[in-house]
Amino acid sequence: MLPMKRLSLGKLLILAGAFCLTNGSTSAQSTDAKPSAELVANTPARAQFVGAKRCSECHAAQFDGWQGTAHNKMIRPPVSGGANATVLADFTVPSEHRKFELKDVKWVIGSRWKQRFIGEVDGSEVVFPAQWSVRDKKWMSYTAKTDWWWKDHQDWKTRSNFQLCAGCHSTGLDVKTETWAEPNITCENCHGAGREHSATPKADNIVNPARLSTARSMDICLSCHQSGKPTDTKYAWPVGYTPGAELAKFWNGFKPEAGKEDAEFWPNGTAHKNRVQGNVFKQSVMHEHGIQCTNCHDMHSSQHVAMTLKDSSSNALCLTCHGPGKDHGPAEKSLTGHTHHLPLSKGSSCIECHMPKTGSNAVPSEARNHTFDFISPADTLKHGAPNSCNTCHADHTPQWALDAVEKWWPKKK
Ligand code: HEC
Ligand code: HEC
Ligand code: HEC
Ligand code: HEC
Ligand code: HEC
Ligand code: HEC
Ligand code: HEC
Ligand code: HEC
Repeated sequence: MLPMKRLSLGKLLILAGAFCLTNGSTSAQSTDAKPSAELVANTPARAQFVGAKRCSECHAAQFDGWQGTAHNKMIRPPVSGGANATVLADFTVPSEHRKFELKDVKWVIGSRWKQRFIGEVDGSEVVFPAQWSVRDKKWMSYTAKTDWWWKDHQDWKTRSNFQLCAGCHSTGLDVKTETWAEPNITCENCHGAGREHSATPKADNIVNPARLSTARSMDICLSCHQSGKPTDTKYAWPVGYTPGAELAKFWNGFKPEAGKEDAEFWPNGTAHKNRVQGNVFKQSVMHEHGIQCTNCHDMHSSQHVAMTLKDSSSNALCLTCHGPGKDHGPAEKSLTGHTHHLPLSKGSSCIECHMPKTGSNAVPSEARNHTFDFISPADTLKHGAPNSCNTCHADHTPQWALDAVEKWWPKKK
């Protein structure tokens, strides 16, 4: 067990006071950052969690595979250099944004797109205000300005890891004791607390997402992969939610509004940032037809980028269900017939046109769109949303791309 520092009561009162000042709210309104007694009661106690090692005694294959996934590398102690290094950021590079040194870091978050850092201020774990872009290898400020909670946490020293982050980066966060069962996204995050099952293994005392309805199964992923707001707390994650439950009772996922651009969505409803896979996928035709996250992603044994079931850069993943001889389109008999690019060209890769990188992450255009729509250059001309063609053909104008689209797919709506 890794204990997390408590936010002292005094600290909570100070935070509560800060809400009063910035919101102008009266004492009749809830200014307490703490979740309700009901939510607290709904959260399984720390003692109900046994940890991934225990599961591995009987499920070695799932454990071995999961160990190598990004879910197991989310929040780690700082180690620089050597085979087990967790720090990718270069602390010898000076930056006006970085108000901390490596020695101040208690936890390193992330490794694929960006790294953020947790340290202690006045005895509580907080998020430092600078991040490292893995792609551009540079320090950037981390302002959190587009997060709904920003107005209450303009001072980074009030950005509690526990309240704002760790619910999605660790397993079995106990809101009473403010401790987590394990760091990272581990077995019991998706299967529920497993003490009873481990003592007396049965199929009905553990959650198997494959036996849940599509909606309840997807809710597990959406509890972290869907931007939104809690229903009745000031926490930035769904306190009280457990696998198998209905997420909407704890969490209101943001929905795109046609024609409106905000932090999460472009005006056409495509992903404007990372971590909105759930929000945008719910708008997709595939979701309407009952497809869910786990039809494409494998949580235990995938060796592919982003834990896909099959390789997606070779089109193998999409061609499981699509292509000639399958029922779900496209109608053309050959790859080039559909894509109008040479077969081995990047321009014939399904995900490049149907999941372009429209979302910003550490840097712009890093996160793939999950509506799976082909995004027309007409959308760019209309309201600036990135499209499926110019993300690749950056040296050409949207009008150039639109002319080709109208020629190649004359029937396109
Ligand atoms: C002592 C051995 C043992 C341990 C420890 C154990 N399991 Fe199991 N698990 C089993 C057995 C046996 C089954 C098959 C039960 C059956 O079908 O009746 C099973 C089944 C499952 C299933 C599938 C249920 C279904 O619907 O068929 C899941 C998911 C699962 N375990 C997850 C876990 C997780 C997560 C942990 C750790 C928290 C864990 N198990 C710990 C032995 C164990
Ligand atoms: C991020 C979510 C997630 C994590 C983490 C996770 N699983 Fe699973 N697990 C699933 C899903 C989803 C399924 C159902 C897969 C399907 O659709 O067939 C599943 C299925 C299973 C099953 C049933 C047999 C099978 O392979 O389909 C077992 C057993 C299991 N998981 C054990 C584990 C153990 C042990 C760990 C930790 C080492 C773990 N899981 C971590 C999501 C997860
Ligand atoms: C509601 C759940 C949730 C909350 C709250 C949350 N995150 Fe995350 N975070 C995620 C998910 C899911 C991802 C995976 C990236 C994606 O889906 O686009 C992620 C990704 C990241 C990454 C990039 C990881 C990588 O490998 O590049 C960092 C860094 C990060 N989060 C830091 C934070 C910090 C700091 C906070 C608190 C201020 C926070 N997150 C709050 C769910 C959450
Ligand atoms: C408790 C929160 C949580 C849950 C539940 C969860 N994820 Fe994640 N997921 C994350 C975080 C955080 C990351 C970023 C990990 C990192 O970058 O180290 C992530 C990363 C991923 C990635 C990118 C992995 C990579 O190799 O870059 C995929 C794909 C993914 N999750 C799919 C799923 C699916 C599908 C489910 C449901 C079966 C699920 N996740 C459930 C938090 C969660
Ligand atoms: C598990 C099966 C499955 C996989 C894998 C799959 N799809 Fe689909 N897809 C479907 C189904 C089912 C539909 C619903 C339409 C239909 O049945 O005609 C669909 C529809 C679509 C549509 C049509 C949307 C519209 O507006 O009509 C697109 C585009 C699409 N998928 C792209 C992809 C891409 C890209 C991939 C790979 C990343 C992929 N699909 C992987 C099953 C799948
Ligand atoms: C160069 C861009 C591009 C690539 C690459 C591409 N598509 Fe498409 N796709 C489109 C366009 C444009 C449409 C819309 C056509 C229309 O509405 O007439 C479309 C439509 C679809 C549809 C909806 C059914 C239909 O025929 O209209 C499916 C399914 C689909 N694509 C699957 C795929 C799969 C699977 C791959 C990879 C093998 C792929 N696409 C690669 C541009 C592309
Ligand atoms: C039709 C297939 C399909 C479905 C359904 C799907 N994904 Fe993905 N997902 C992909 C592919 C393909 C990638 C990108 C792989 C690559 O970059 O090579 C991806 C990437 C990701 C990533 C990495 C972030 C990024 O921007 O690349 C996350 C996280 C993720 N998916 C989560 C989810 C979640 C959560 C769901 C359900 C709400 C979901 N996906 C549904 C195919 C799918
Ligand atoms: C991931 C990269 C990628 C995407 C996405 C892409 N292309 Fe291409 N495109 C290429 C490459 C590489 C070539 C070179 C020859 C070939 O593959 O046919 C090319 C060639 C072309 C050509 C002919 C050569 C030229 O430059 O005049 C046109 C026209 C074109 N693409 C238009 C489009 C349109 C329209 C879209 C969106 C529907 C699109 N491309 C999407 C990579 C891409």
